[in-house]
Amino acid sequence: MELTVVWYLRMSLIYFVAGVLVGFAMLLWPAESGYFIPVHTHLNLLGFMSMMIYGVGYHILPKFSGKLMYSPKIMKVQFWLANAGLIGMAASWPFSAMEESPLFGTILIFSAFLTLLSAILFAFNMMKTVKSA
Ligand code: HEM
Ligand code: HEM
Repeated sequence: MELTVVWYLRMSLIYFVAGVLVGFAMLLWPAESGYFIPVHTHLNLLGFMSMMIYGVGYHILPKFSGKLMYSPKIMKVQFWLANAGLIGMAASWPFSAMEESPLFGTILIFSAFLTLLSAILFAFNMMKTVKSA
């Protein structure tokens, strides 16, 4: 299995554990939990679910079509964008919601942009891979 694919799967499982830990902590400290709902949901849905789909998709879809992946380079760049984006979003989201400083809002938007870019790259790479089948 391609090393980048292995890292997509590893990071997915790490985000899963982080996501459920945040969910559990939200039950223990309900007063603060509101700030952490988007951290919990996006660690689980962008981190665990989407990252798992990226990894499995990159591994399986080219095999289904019997062709090589359109761009292994995009797969690698997308890995870094998706991880930097999600970590930035998860770290800045509660502070941005607390309105501690406008800096956190800026970090959140910048990280969200990286995440958006990574999703678009995934879609592009997959479309091209499927099309070449
Ligand atoms: C140990 C496991 C988990 C615990 C203890 C937990 C706990 C929580 C808590 C306390 C909330 C906030 C509810 C509220 O006050 O409105 C929440 C919301 C949410 N959780 Fe989890 N969760 C867990 C696993 C998951 C997983 C695995 C996923 C997705 C794959 C998930 C997705 C969501 C979503 C989407 C919301 C937001 C729902 C809404 O908008 O009302 N959770 N969770
Ligand atoms: C660039 C990527 C994304 C950005 C910037 C983003 C942004 C947001 C924002 C601003 C909210 C409202 C949070 C609030 O009420 O304070 C939200 C909620 C939500 N998003 Fe996303 N999202 C992204 C990707 C996704 C993906 C891929 C999924 C699912 C696969 C998802 C699932 C949800 C859910 C279930 C909620 C409602 C629960 C919550 O309030 O956290 N999001 N998102």
